[in-house]
Amino acid sequence: MKDIIRQLARKKNAIILAHNYVPSDIQDVADLCGDSLELSLKAAETDADIIVFCGVRFMAETAAILSPEKTVLLPVEDAGCPMADMVTPETLRQRKAQLPGIPVVTYVNSTAAVKALSDICCTSANVLQVVESLDSKEILMTPDRNLALYAASHTSKTIHLWEGFCPFHNTLTRQDVMEARKQHPEALFIAHPECPPEVLLMADAISSTSGMIRMARESDHREFIIGTETGLLHPLQQACPEKAFYPASTNMFCPDMKKISLAILASTLEKESGRVQVSEDIRLPALKAVKRMMALKG
Ligand code: 13P
Ligand code: SF4
Repeated sequence: MKDIIRQLARKKNAIILAHNYVPSDIQDVADLCGDSLELSLKAAETDADIIVFCGVRFMAETAAILSPEKTVLLPVEDAGCPMADMVTPETLRQRKAQLPGIPVVTYVNSTAAVKALSDICCTSANVLQVVESLDSKEILMTPDRNLALYAASHTSKTIHLWEGFCPFHNTLTRQDVMEARKQHPEALFIAHPECPPEVLLMADAISSTSGMIRMARESDHREFIIGTETGLLHPLQQACPEKAFYPASTNMFCPDMKKISLAILASTLEKESGRVQVSEDIRLPALKAVKRMMALKG
């Protein structure tokens, strides 16, 4: 099946992008695996005609925002991110009316329509840089409360919170981390900023998913407790076969990221199904917020 997928991708000049959480066989057949920021950058610069996004809808939408001339395909059309649905254009408009003049920073885990109402986007990899790039002393951050609290702990700015969360990262408890540390006393604990603040306080390092891979590669440590979705264990182990990685909790499992299979990916390429498009009235203001974030990369 992997050979068929690679042949189809070559024939159709398609690039297969995969998030670090998707099943390992999909990661292995993809052209690029990465975190949200890396995948957005790649989607913006590729000269492929078709982008197949193995991830969840907001990721494919971001690719469609950046590359309207390309065909962007989401193999599983109902692969979504529950956190992204915790802010809607209507609720954001209401909150903005209560906080006039305050810039809105929106996590990329959001719909295109919400990005369109935002001043700038951020990912887990650049949230601190994005917050510091704004002149305003006050900021509204949507939709992830934990990410906003993480940013607030690193800035003198006032961050207004939104009550969104990742249903999987938010379940990680101090007790889970203590248990994992008891089992693996030599291990470093690396956490994703979507985890609750009391868990982040226990972390040896806080990072995006790809940042965790880089850290593990560069570290002298040989064992790591990983505080993010368990799909990341595969690329970590691939990057560092001689090191050991333990999940901080096996409850950190995102079902939407696991809906894709090799058979679904092959059929998507064959039929060019699952096209994601964003209407121009939403795409153009959303593009402004995404591009403003990407400009910070230099
Ligand atoms: P990263 O951008 O760190 O890969 O995170 C995306 C995500 O959905 C985390 O739950
Ligand atoms: Fe969304 Fe959480 Fe899944 Fe990431 S792990 S895609 S934030 S539900």
